[in-house]
Amino acid sequence: MSENLYLPETESKEEIYEALLPQIEALISSEEDLYANLANISAALKEALDFFWVGFYLVKDDQLVLGPFQGPIACTRIRKGKGVCGTVWEKAETLIVDDVDAFPGHIACSSASKSEIVAPIMNNNEVFGVLDVDSDQLASFDETDKKYLEKLMEILSKTL
Ligand code: SME
Repeated sequence: MSENLYLPETESKEEIYEALLPQIEALISSEEDLYANLANISAALKEALDFFWVGFYLVKDDQLVLGPFQGPIACTRIRKGKGVCGTVWEKAETLIVDDVDAFPGHIACSSASKSEIVAPIMNNNEVFGVLDVDSDQLASFDETDKKYLEKLMEILSKTL
């Protein structure tokens, strides 16, 4: 795997995800270190889709703890059921939040964050962690993001 991403010159998110996912799969399947892989996934998503903030929180005992990410500094610990990430941990399903100010209990790591998508990482039927993506625009995420980010978390799960 070369260390450059091939990214199509297109406005289509779908085409970008289609080009990106096999490259991420190749990148992480040849490396067994989890943090190296999470770091490269964050960087690849940031480079390809120019997300405001993208990164991981991993379950450690009774909290989610910040893992590798790209973007501004973020809160380090989130309790189960708290914020969007803690809710995704509790429900084990992806959440799309069009307006974070309208989400009860949203944890504002950055006041610039306006919308968010969070997808769970599953391992042996339990939530292992979450992928969190924030945008500085309202309603940035849709079913296309959900489909491909969930697919990416399945690819990641296979490496756990
Ligand atoms: N907004 C998230 C917290 C994490 S930051 O956005 C990076 C939440 O409500 O869970």
